[in-house]
Amino acid sequence: MLIFKPYPLLLTVALSLVVIPLKAAEYVPWTQQNFAIENSLSGSAGDPDSGLQLVTLKSKGNCIACHRLPIKDLAFQGTIGPELTGVGKRLTVPQIRLRVVDEKQINPYTIMPGYHADPQRFNRVSERYRGEAILSAQEIEDIVAYLGSLK
Ligand code: HEC
Repeated sequence: MLIFKPYPLLLTVALSLVVIPLKAAEYVPWTQQNFAIENSLSGSAGDPDSGLQLVTLKSKGNCIACHRLPIKDLAFQGTIGPELTGVGKRLTVPQIRLRVVDEKQINPYTIMPGYHADPQRFNRVSERYRGEAILSAQEIEDIVAYLGSLK
């Protein structure tokens, strides 16, 4: 019988390569000034096309559960939050950034999740998510770039 012994080892190596990037959403500390976050959280510019994907993805932003966005043929958009069509005209990019990162800085009673809020402010978080943010710094920037383009 031909048994190829290194298989379990190869499988372990392959799996660890897949699993490591999944532990996403490392919290990057930020500070706000005048109800805005001036600088990019990731240090890079956002990609609006990727932002458009993230706002509709249930496993990511799922923003359309509460907000309406100008996305054609997308049914069942929410009306709990304000419509975000034209949000790039009402708010500056740094103002949008703070609202996506932590809307509680504007309204402490909001039901909108703080997508990159300080994890120390959450309690009773499942152990594997402790200390993490909901969306990564780059995901935040992609969404901010998309919203900023809605003029
Ligand atoms: C559970 C519902 C909910 C979800 C999910 C949600 N929001 Fe909100 N959002 C709100 C509500 C409600 C407000 C109004 C602020 C308040 O509560 O006072 C708001 C406000 C905002 C504002 C400020 C708009 C303005 O005109 O002042 C922005 C920008 C925004 N949300 C973006 C997003 C993005 C981007 C996502 C997804 C990553 C998202 N929201 C997900 C409920 C939600």
